[in-house]
Amino acid sequence: MCGIVGYVGTEPAAPVLLSALHDLEYRGYDSAGIAVLEPDGGVVSITKREGKLANLEAALNALDASAATTGIGHTRWATHGRPSDINAHPHRSCAGEVVVIHNGIVENYAELRARLRAEGHEFVSETDTETIAHLMEGLVKSGRSLLDALRITCSQLEGSQAILAMSPTQPGIIVAARVGNAGGIVLGYGKDEMVLASDLAAVLPRTRQVAFLADGQVAEITKTGARYVNEHGSPVDVPVREIDIDPASALKGQYPHFMLKEIMEQPESLSDTIQSLVSQEPPEVHCADLGPAEARLASIDRVVLIGMGTSLHAAMIGRRFIEELAGIPAEVDNASEFRYRDPILGPNALVVSVSQSGETVDVLEAMNVARAAGALQVTICNTQGAQTTRVAHGTVYTRAGLERGVASTKCFTTAIAALYALALRLGLAKGRLGPGELRERIQDLTRVPDAVGRALDDMGVYTRLADQYHEAEHLLVLGRGLAFPVALEGALKMKEISYVHAEGYAAGEMKHGPIALIDPSFLTVAIATTHALRSKIVSNIEQVQARGGRVIAVITEGDAHVTRLADQCIEIPAVAPLLEPIVATVPMQLLSYAMALRRGCDVDQPRNLAKTVTVE
Ligand code: G6P
Repeated sequence: MCGIVGYVGTEPAAPVLLSALHDLEYRGYDSAGIAVLEPDGGVVSITKREGKLANLEAALNALDASAATTGIGHTRWATHGRPSDINAHPHRSCAGEVVVIHNGIVENYAELRARLRAEGHEFVSETDTETIAHLMEGLVKSGRSLLDALRITCSQLEGSQAILAMSPTQPGIIVAARVGNAGGIVLGYGKDEMVLASDLAAVLPRTRQVAFLADGQVAEITKTGARYVNEHGSPVDVPVREIDIDPASALKGQYPHFMLKEIMEQPESLSDTIQSLVSQEPPEVHCADLGPAEARLASIDRVVLIGMGTSLHAAMIGRRFIEELAGIPAEVDNASEFRYRDPILGPNALVVSVSQSGETVDVLEAMNVARAAGALQVTICNTQGAQTTRVAHGTVYTRAGLERGVASTKCFTTAIAALYALALRLGLAKGRLGPGELRERIQDLTRVPDAVGRALDDMGVYTRLADQYHEAEHLLVLGRGLAFPVALEGALKMKEISYVHAEGYAAGEMKHGPIALIDPSFLTVAIATTHALRSKIVSNIEQVQARGGRVIAVITEGDAHVTRLADQCIEIPAVAPLLEPIVATVPMQLLSYAMALRRGCDVDQPRNLAKTVTVE
């Protein structure tokens, strides 16, 4: 969950690292630090500060490190050791021979620490990371290359890790290792420089030529390139690919927050995603990256969808698409539960994982379980070349561009569109969709971006609602059918960024408990659009109101009946029933955003959260 970055080149490293850390700060903001080194070695200069990046930035103003052209930087989401200057990365070994940054958890750090202490090593921090520096130091002192020292050290660590290290004894080199699923390392190939980072956002401003480190691989990077070995030290080839994301999408532009920018980008992200997956004349579903999965789709007789957080909610919607469009029984499971369930998966089962980053540890572990069971796997992912795409037999990519807000928005709606395309593809493979229906379904999908655009029109509604309700501490979001995952997602957004205790509920459950909460101070949002079993949800609204509760209803344009009933209504344009969740998601995104602003919350860096969860 931490952000890690490295730079070897000809420019001063500190400003490059700092700029990259801005791009990675969403991954953790308990502390930040950098270490830089001059080309001819000497002393490593380390600067680190507790708290947000601004604190480090202020400290770096006093540093003259213009001659240092190699460096590593870190932004921390604390696991072992409270947030503090001392526990901030980088960490160094006693003699300062090795400097390390790290994402992951050294699960056996207590034993390693005790052993190293007994050997005379002195620890200054409470972190698990410091053990890595001490272990490497012994190997470097015995004459090992930094690459070997890191590789051998990794073999002594339990758990999943992504590690960068450098040493004044071997200047101009950074080494990097990935062990397990603690998060990726992207290597960017620039002109006379290499930049490495936890994710693409920090690499793209400098180059689009990238390679991804796979589990077990260790790399040695100089300004002219990289060499790779596997865990046994044998050389391996790692392909370099060109990424077709516009680096400008990593900037906030005219918007005050990434989250608002990304909400507003949804029509375009949806349109890009849809155009890449289907065409209208002739009506076709492409899904070009299905690879070897394509030929096996016709034999699928059961589908299990998995994901975490927002992606799990998308998976819940995808389940319905697969049942309705392909006629295949489908179920959905939280990846962190699935991985421990010893699931029964026959040879004709398809596991569909949804992960915008493609690096979420529980999803990757669940995919390993599915792989061991021999299931076919397709993943829905927004990050080209991410780990999930390497494990799955095939990928359906969303084209949302970079998503920087910790609260996922455009990746959710584009994942729903991608799942719809996959369900159509399965429907075709099963011979269930005739040409007429396919044409109609594709037309339905292509109308969605415009409807989302219209749903985004009036921010004023949300500002007014936030003015009225910003003191609410509890919120129930009710939905039925396909609107139930929409309610779950809406409640999650509200919790994540405005810290209002919000619960998404299947509206039919309301009478089985939550109704006891309703009183005149209690706020309920009801997703009461035309296709969300509207008549049933209308009864729920009446039941809340009979107990004095307040109701905001999300309705389809022109629904006069619910307009009269609810305290306030938010209108969205009508679309095809199955696709309504995409449009019905927008109001809770904007209401959560407006509430967070009104409550003075940090929208893009909500407390305790990280965008990509790479530790268990
Ligand atoms: C974290 C993020 C969520 C995201 C979830 C799954 O919890 O804060 O926004 O939905 O991880 O991420 P993934 O990259 O697998 O979609």
